Amino acid sequence: MILKTMIKMDSKNLLYEGKAKSVFQGENPDEVIIDFRDDMTAGDGARKESMGQKGYINSVICAKIFETLEAEGVKTQLIELCEPCVMKAKKLDMIPIEVIVRNIATGSIIRKFPFEDKAPFNPPLIQMDFKDDEFHDPMLNDAIAIALKIASKEDLDTLRELALKVNDVMSRMFKDIGIILVDFKIEFGKDKDGNIILGDEISPDSCRLWDAETLDMLDKELFRQGKDDEVIDAYEEVFNRLLTEEDKKKWGI
Ligand code: CDP
Repeated sequence: MILKTMIKMDSKNLLYEGKAKSVFQGENPDEVIIDFRDDMTAGDGARKESMGQKGYINSVICAKIFETLEAEGVKTQLIELCEPCVMKAKKLDMIPIEVIVRNIATGSIIRKFPFEDKAPFNPPLIQMDFKDDEFHDPMLNDAIAIALKIASKEDLDTLRELALKVNDVMSRMFKDIGIILVDFKIEFGKDKDGNIILGDEISPDSCRLWDAETLDMLDKELFRQGKDDEVIDAYEEVFNRLLTEEDKKKWGI
């Protein structure tokens, strides 16, 4: 890829390597370049596979969602999708909190608490987990987050407010294309002026998405359940329903 070479996505500019993305210093000190890789992991990284085209698909889905959120007044770290897989973004000081929003009870919440499987949460349930593989992402409350000095009370209130707004916008967006947004995880960071900005990614890696008619899974849960051969088809289904012809032209797809 020509652009990848131009922006020098080489190890000397690597700032951070996550489980599915690599973050490089951008040309401007306040910017980073995020490379969406095909790697997929489960169980705190215990299982890792390369899934063809996943980086491409997720980067485009993420750009589409972030652009829609921006248009609805939610600040995101997206500057531009330079090309599929390569996103130019604002450099953020990430807050190590996974903000999880749930519209329907499934996954870890029904393993930990006596909620009925598939019961709707109304209002949506917001959960915050400490992002730390070593401690297996334990659930936080405000007092613990404040004592850990990872967020202030005001920050936590802002995270909840933004998470609900993101849920509103995304739930509508997916409903329009026949998909139920069951739950998702988002992460935030602070820019150089201390503003809280939506960072990381939103993609089928970080959401539970069910087809509204069949309730078929269209997300990473397939990988967690070992249905590796169904993963990319499901991600492609989300991609195809979400992107307009205009989007595809804009991103040269
Ligand atoms: O069931 P599981 O342990 O995967 O996690 P969960 O707490 O039920 O996950 C809730 C939502 O957050 C799902 O959409 C997950 O995909 C997402 N999640 C994530 O993206 N990354 C994590 N480390 C944990 C959850």
